Amino acid sequence: MTPTITLIPGDGVGPEITKAVTLVLGEAGARLQYDRQDAGVYALERHGDPMPQATMDSIESNGLALKGPLATPSGGGFRSVNVAIRKEFDLYANIRPVSTILPGLRYQDIDLVLIRENTEGLYVGVEHSISIAGDRRAAAESAMITTRFGCERILRFAFEYAIANGRSKVTLAHKANILKHTQGLFLETGELMAPEYAGRVAFEDGIIDATAMHLVLDPYRFDVLVMGNMFGDILSDLMAGLVGGLGFAPSGNIGESCAVFEAVHGSAADIAGQGVANPTGLLLSACMLLDHIGQGEAARRIRTALEAVVLHGDARTPDMGGSDNTSAFAAAVARRLG
Ligand code: NAI
Repeated sequence: MTPTITLIPGDGVGPEITKAVTLVLGEAGARLQYDRQDAGVYALERHGDPMPQATMDSIESNGLALKGPLATPSGGGFRSVNVAIRKEFDLYANIRPVSTILPGLRYQDIDLVLIRENTEGLYVGVEHSISIAGDRRAAAESAMITTRFGCERILRFAFEYAIANGRSKVTLAHKANILKHTQGLFLETGELMAPEYAGRVAFEDGIIDATAMHLVLDPYRFDVLVMGNMFGDILSDLMAGLVGGLGFAPSGNIGESCAVFEAVHGSAADIAGQGVANPTGLLLSACMLLDHIGQGEAARRIRTALEAVVLHGDARTPDMGGSDNTSAFAAAVARRLG
């Protein structure tokens, strides 16, 4: 049976990279049917709602989605639809791998995976402004929600992911020296769980700020990293920088009964409409989706073709130092598959 996935092209560069990715998926013989849906600013303009019910219903019934970036206004405006989707479908584990494809960078052979807790922490959005003496935004506070249940399931996921993927070490990055309750609970949960994996997966912890420095100085000392929501959001962009930038970073948001795959990057408003975005992040996210549904052979063929295109310079988008556009890049990958 051909699985149906919800396909959300999204905002900014989203439609451009989605077109490129579906072309390559077709050429690779991926068995997928697409249920196209709107979300984000595009949906707000078209349907008056950044998260239409039809889109949520589609994700729920398919249990699988490939999603382009969705823009979120900073400061005011509507709340993040990305965060809402993760919350609604309890997509608690965000897998963000980075590996080197582009030659000539400061580092070669990077192969790291960041596992980010996706439903708790500061991103629960429990925050408000405090009005003082007529100034409605005189002060503000946010709650960082951390539960033992949430810590246990993401840390379990990280250890099990390491075993299933032949990885040797899990590094738990935290700020438990300052945030003794929230981050302390995360660290304590990891320390209690690690002995169950002794002899199979090594375990260490590191303070988040020092971990950021070590990632830049010597990324090879890490393997799988696990951390809370906001730290994971920030460090995964840093890690994307190790392999050439956000255009190369895929991700999967995984829950018990639903999974949503998307590039790590946002809508890239500065290059949207120019047709020059790098579709690699979304293409590798689609490969993660194929792995997830047992079509690993199509994923393997796409990764091989993609690596050959970038390595041999068949086509390169501007962020790779080339001058090819998104569709020329996709066509080059399709040629390697053909
Ligand atoms: P961004 O990731 O859109 O862009 C940051 C920089 O990376 C820009 O210079 C952009 O041109 C470049 N870039 C991003 N993707 C690229 C690609 N595929 N190829 C070549 N260059 C690429 O981050 P920014 O500007 O902070 O966010 C823009 C909007 O996207 C915001 O509204 C934000 O909320 C949203 N966003 C959505 C995400 C999602 O849907 N999962 C994730 C991150 C941000």
